[in-house]
Amino acid sequence: MSWNNFTPSEYVSIEFLDFLYEQFPLQKSIWHGPDHWIRVLENGRSLTKETGANLEVVELFALIHDCRRENENYDLEHGFRSGDFARTLNGTWFDLNKDDLEELVYACHWHSHGRTNGTPTVMTCWDSDRLDLGRVGKKPLPKYLCTDAAKARC
Ligand SMILES: [Fe+2]
Ligand SMILES: [Fe+2]
Repeated sequence: MSWNNFTPSEYVSIEFLDFLYEQFPLQKSIWHGPDHWIRVLENGRSLTKETGANLEVVELFALIHDCRRENENYDLEHGFRSGDFARTLNGTWFDLNKDDLEELVYACHWHSHGRTNGTPTVMTCWDSDRLDLGRVGKKPLPKYLCTDAAKARC
C-alpha cells in the first residue's frame, strides 16, 4: 500500500502499517483507520519533543491503538483488544523491554476511558490520540488532555 503522509522511522515501517491494516476489521473507516493512526503518529512525534516520552512506545501506540476496533460507534473494549494484540507482536515487529511493553499495553488498554494521569509516555500517547478529535467534529478540551504540551495546542 502507499500511505499518504506516512513517514516511516526506525520504529515503524510501511510493512508494519500494511500488516496492521490487513488485519483491521474496519478497513473503510474514516474515523478510526490508518489516516487517523498516521495523524496520531505525527501528533506523538511532535509532543514527544516536549514531554520526554519514549518515542518508540508513542509511535507504536499511534499505529496499534485503534487497529482492533470492530465498529465506528460504541466499542469500549477496543483498547483492551489492541493492547493484548500489541503484546503478541513484541519480538516480531518490535522488541520492547518488559517495562516499555507494559507501558504500551497500558496506554492501549485505557486510551478511551477518559483517564488523564500516567507516566509522561502514557500521557503523550493519550494526548496524541485526543488531539485528533477534530476529525469527528469535536474540539479537544484542555481538561481532557494530560500534558501541558497538548493543552497548549488546543
Ligand atoms: Fe480508540
Ligand atoms: Fe484513536
